[in-house]
Amino acid sequence: MNNHVRVVIRWVAFWSLAPLAVMFGQTGNQGSSRTQAGEQIFKSACAACHGADGRGTAKEIAGFERPRTFPDFTACDQTTPEPNTTWKDVILHGGPTRGFSDIMPSFGEALTSEQIDDVIALLRSFCRNPHWPRGELNLPRALVTEKAYPEDEVVISTALNAQGAPGGTTHIIHEQRFGVKNQIEIDVPINFQDQSHTWYGGIGDTTLGVKRTMFSSLRSGSILSLFGGAILPTGNKARGFGTGTTTFETFAAFDQLFRSNTFLQTQLGADLPRHTQIAPQSIFFNTAIGQSFAANHGLGRLWSPMVEFLGARDLVDSAKMNWDVLPQMQVTISRRQHVRANLGVRVPVNNTAGRGIQIVFYVLWDWQDGRLNEGW
Ligand code: HEC
Repeated sequence: MNNHVRVVIRWVAFWSLAPLAVMFGQTGNQGSSRTQAGEQIFKSACAACHGADGRGTAKEIAGFERPRTFPDFTACDQTTPEPNTTWKDVILHGGPTRGFSDIMPSFGEALTSEQIDDVIALLRSFCRNPHWPRGELNLPRALVTEKAYPEDEVVISTALNAQGAPGGTTHIIHEQRFGVKNQIEIDVPINFQDQSHTWYGGIGDTTLGVKRTMFSSLRSGSILSLFGGAILPTGNKARGFGTGTTTFETFAAFDQLFRSNTFLQTQLGADLPRHTQIAPQSIFFNTAIGQSFAANHGLGRLWSPMVEFLGARDLVDSAKMNWDVLPQMQVTISRRQHVRANLGVRVPVNNTAGRGIQIVFYVLWDWQDGRLNEGW
């Protein structure tokens, strides 16, 4: 058997074991008795504003101006990305706790924690389509490993050389969902480099791609997605900013959320250039292991330390797998948690010739959750 094929098979075998992690997964808790108890509470405490059907009371009767972000609980595209903790925070502490309107009262005095869980179970029943991936599976974004959850996000991510030639790359990434399970993605890199004491800048090779969720289950805490895209030769090859050929990229991403908010994200993929005499085919295997800690009994600011293990290998005879480790810390910046930042250090562990340490950081904005100036 050819050596490359063997490497690929080994990684596929390793990676396909990941779903076994499902066995340690979470259990859902949405019994119908819960929903019934929730319905009583909803009718007496919420329906006056949110409407008996969860769409919101008619403007004329409600007696308040609807904020732009006023929820329609039957709209799965609006509700499924929100994890239960977000709703619990808002119901317990009132709208302003997440930068929402103070028309949404706090029920911390009126309802027990269990009663709030019951009413959330009812709110969940308003979305009738069970195929939407749930927001709990939208794990904290790692610096390199792509997650499985389809996102509405803008990310500006920068890697700066801390060793070797001064320079770096900033990626401007736009991700947008469509339909129940899909997402398009555009990634434009901008390079800046000191080449023999002169600074050069320019865009690199632009990625266009589509990601689709193949499987997701809140019950087991797992989500699997596939990605297919093209990396276009928009970068200047002579400057070393581009490969000079179109590359087809494909990957699978499998993420697992465990009880107690430990998580594992894995990504296995390949880059297949059209002209392999210009750029070699390569494979990559990225994994991120992390843990989220939320202040205020699990409802406040979210801190997510993670460590990534990043492997990449050209599919040529002399090549070896390059390994990097990347410890990092993601933190939510806005009250609504729709603006977040992450900072880490990428350290090559083998074949370090020509591969130096890098400082990597991003700022991300989940634009579906609110405008940039909202939610603070
Ligand atoms: C006085 C009117 C009023 C009452 C009563 C009320 N709400 Fe609200 N609620 C609002 C408004 C207005 C918003 C939108 C706030 C915004 O978008 O700025 C809101 C927002 C919410 C949200 C936030 C959704 C999101 O986008 O994250 C949840 C969850 C919610 N309400 C649940 C409830 C529950 C459960 C009850 C009853 C226990 C309740 N509300 C009672 C007015 C009300």
